[in-house]
Amino acid sequence: MLKPEIEDGQTSLADPQFRADVLAGLTRRPRAIPARWFYDHRGSQLFEAITDLPEYYPTRTETQLLREIGPELRELVGEGRAMVEFGSGSSTKTPILLDSIMPSAYVPIDISGDFLRESSRTLAERFPDLLILPFEADFTRPLTLPRTIEKAPKLGFFPGSTIGNLIPLAAIDLLRAMRASLEEGAMLVIGMDRIKDAQVLVPAYDDAQGVTAAFNLNLLERINRELDGTIPVDAFAHKAIWNDDRARIEMHLAATRDTAFEVDGRPFEIAAGETIHTENSHKYGPRDARILLRAGGWTPIREWTDADGKFAVILAEAQAERPAP
Ligand code: AVJ
Repeated sequence: MLKPEIEDGQTSLADPQFRADVLAGLTRRPRAIPARWFYDHRGSQLFEAITDLPEYYPTRTETQLLREIGPELRELVGEGRAMVEFGSGSSTKTPILLDSIMPSAYVPIDISGDFLRESSRTLAERFPDLLILPFEADFTRPLTLPRTIEKAPKLGFFPGSTIGNLIPLAAIDLLRAMRASLEEGAMLVIGMDRIKDAQVLVPAYDDAQGVTAAFNLNLLERINRELDGTIPVDAFAHKAIWNDDRARIEMHLAATRDTAFEVDGRPFEIAAGETIHTENSHKYGPRDARILLRAGGWTPIREWTDADGKFAVILAEAQAERPAP
C-alpha cells in the first residue's frame, strides 16, 4: 500500500515509535516524552529560529569557536581522516569543520533519511570534490561504517551540546557506541554547554519572543496532527527550570487547568499544575566534561572555550585501553 502523502511531503501515517513513546509517556508518572520528537518539519523550523535568538547563546558561541580553532584543530587532527558526523549535518558548523580539517570523506549519520539526503545535496554543491557518504542509521547503537572508509582513521563530530539531551547514563552509552563505531585511534570533536548562572541559562530556554515556548508546545500540536489527538494546546504553558542538583535545564508543559483529552483513541486526564517533561539539557563543568568523556572511552586531548567560558569544544581520542594501574 502507498503511504498517503500530505502537502509538505510528510506522510499522514505516524511513526510507530512516536505513537508508542507518546502513549507510554502520558501514562507514566512523572509524565515525560523524549525530546527527539520535537523535530518534525515545524519543530525543526522553530529550532532554527531559536538558534538566532539573542538569549540562546550556544549555537553562535560554538560556531564562532569552531571558526577560531580551525587551524589548531587541523594541526592536531592531521590529514586523511574520514569525518563522521552524528546528526544530519544541516547546520553551518559542518562546512566550518570541513574547511579546516579537509577530510578524505564525510559521513553524516542520521535516522531521518529525508533530512540526510537534503543536507548532503546542499553540502555536495559547496564541496564538489569531497566524497560524501550519507548513512541512514540509529547512531545510539554501534554500527558498521561504509566499506569505502574502512581503512581511514576516523574523526567523529558531535556538535551542539546534543549530548546534553541524554542523562549521564545514556550519554556514556552513546560515547561508548561512538567509540565502537569509529574504532581505536579515532578522534572526536564534541560540543558541550557549560554550567553557568541560572539567570543566563533560564532565559536561553524561555526567551522573550516566546519562540522556545512555541517549540515546546508544537509537540502537543504534532501529537494532535499525527496521533489523532484532541489536546487543548491552550491549556498548557511552557516552563523552563534549572535543576541544580542534576545540573540541567528541564523543559515541561504545565497544565494551566484540569484537562481531559484523547490520543489515538485513548483517554487521558491532566490536573492543573501537573506537567509533561519534554526535555533535559545537561550542562557540564570542565571536570564533569572530562570525566564523562573518559567514562565513555575517550581521552580528552585539548579543549577550547569562548572568552566568557559559556561553551566548550573538546577534542578527544579513543586511545588503547591500558589496564590499571
Ligand atoms: C539542540 C538539544 C542542543 O538543549 O539546547 C534549544 C535544544 N531546546 N532550546 C538544547 C533546545 C530548547 C538544544 N539541543
